[in-house]
Amino acid sequence: MTDRMLIDKATEAMQNAYAPYSKFKVGAALECSDGTVFTGCNVENAAFRASICAEASAVAAAVTSGRREFKRIAITSEGTSYCFPCGVCRQMLNEFAPDLELLCARADGRYVSYPLTALLPMSFGSEHIVTFL
Ligand code: THU
Repeated sequence: MTDRMLIDKATEAMQNAYAPYSKFKVGAALECSDGTVFTGCNVENAAFRASICAEASAVAAAVTSGRREFKRIAITSEGTSYCFPCGVCRQMLNEFAPDLELLCARADGRYVSYPLTALLPMSFGSEHIVTFL
C-alpha cells in the first residue's frame, strides 16, 4: 500500500469524525504487519475529557480484531498544518509499535513522515516496569 493510499483511507475515516465542540475533524489509518488497515476518527463528548482521538480509535479497532503489530499510521485533519498525534496517542502507539512510521498529513494532502522514536524519545514502556512480587 502506498503512503497516498493509506492517507486516503485516513481522510475517508475523517469524514465520520464527531467533533461538534472543537470542529477539528481527524482521521487515522493504521496499517498492521499483515497488511490489514484499521481506521479511526475522533469522537468527542460533552464532558470533554471523555473524548477519543482518531489514533486511539484506530488502535482500539485493530486490537479488538486481534491485531497488535503495526507498521504505519496515517493521520489527517482539515487543518492547514500537519496533524501530529497528541502525547497520549504517542504513548498508546508506543505500547504496540515502538518502531511505527507516522505519516502526518494536512488538508491539502501534503504530508511528512517520522518514526515514532523521533516523536517520543526515551519512551516509557512495559520493559521499564519492575514488579516486586
Ligand atoms: N485529535 C485527534 O483525534 N488526534 C490528534 O492527534 C490530535 C487531536 C482530536 C481530539 C479532539 O477531538 C480534537 O482533535 C481537537 O483537539
